Amino acid sequence: MKNIAVIGSGTMGNGIAHTFAQHGFKVALVDINQDALNRAIQTIAGNLDRQVKKEIISEQLKIETLNNIIAFADLKAATADADLVIEAATENREIKLNLFKQLSEFCKENAILASNTSSISITQIASVTKKPQNVIGMHFMNPVPIMKLVEVIRGYATTDEVTHTIMELSKKLNKVPVEVNDYPGFVANRILMPMINEAIYTLYEGVAGVEEIDTVMKLGMAHPMGPLQLADFIGLDVCLAILNVLYNGFGNQKYAPCPLLVNMVTAGHTGVKSGTGFYQYNKGSKELVVADKYKKG
Ligand SMILES: NC(=O)c1ccc[n+]([C@@H]2O[C@H](COP(=O)([O-])OP(=O)(O)OC[C@H]3O[C@@H](n4cnc5c(N)ncnc54)[C@H](O)[C@@H]3O)[C@@H](O)[C@H]2O)c1
Repeated sequence: MKNIAVIGSGTMGNGIAHTFAQHGFKVALVDINQDALNRAIQTIAGNLDRQVKKEIISEQLKIETLNNIIAFADLKAATADADLVIEAATENREIKLNLFKQLSEFCKENAILASNTSSISITQIASVTKKPQNVIGMHFMNPVPIMKLVEVIRGYATTDEVTHTIMELSKKLNKVPVEVNDYPGFVANRILMPMINEAIYTLYEGVAGVEEIDTVMKLGMAHPMGPLQLADFIGLDVCLAILNVLYNGFGNQKYAPCPLLVNMVTAGHTGVKSGTGFYQYNKGSKELVVADKYKKG
């Protein structure tokens, strides 16, 4: 396995491209949005500079990593030679199904087609391809170059061989892969999202304020970041979308998104990316400030 194609050059796509390229793979990075592609290359270069400064990698490896990445605007050209495609496009079922239909036409017969989806069924994605046995979930965590876990999700038809290949490949990237089956939310988000939802209910019901809830979980449970801050980082729209997948997938009231989360997303207060969520984010400032709406007094 040598040639990797990464689809989508946003938060996750640029991190996935960076990680593979740094480990010697040739990466074709493709996006429908040229600005996103340009930003991704700049972000990767900036992150590599930081790694050089911290003496994590050499200047030479930085140059080799950048040389290993080629940006593409055309899906067919980007994926024709790929041994493995990792789709990290927007978390939208229609976009992903449409992409995998095209990949099934464009890619080499034995190419493995992976999705970095946070919650959409791998079995459903596989069902639109000609070879569902070659489709798998490869769920990286953000930020990809730093986070160790890869949740490897077996669709209903995924073979042992394909699973083994992806587990071994993840180890070559210096990651720790964990194999799980394809049910709503897989493992990571099935456990994380109900916790975040419960934290939002705790705020909604007035049990405690934003800082108090996050402090309890940071100092009491040794979480590096409180659940409300984490929700802001993930994006409240993404949290809502995943909770809806859990709610619809299991048909169980315990996954119903908190009405406060629904209101915040409807109002466009989606967290870091919009500038406000439970906290407010001012460019250039690292100080954590509670959003005006949740300030006390
Ligand atoms: N952000 C996270 O913390 C995180 C963590 C794990 C997994 N994920 C998953 O990774 C995927 C990407 O998330 P993200 O946060 O990087 O999103 P993002 O919005 O930052 O980036 C998505 C990119 O996909 C591009 N895109 C959309 N349709 C496309 C198409 N048809 N062809 C090519 N490019 C296309 C967009 O232009 C955009 O640049 C999602 O499935 C998400 O659920 C996200």
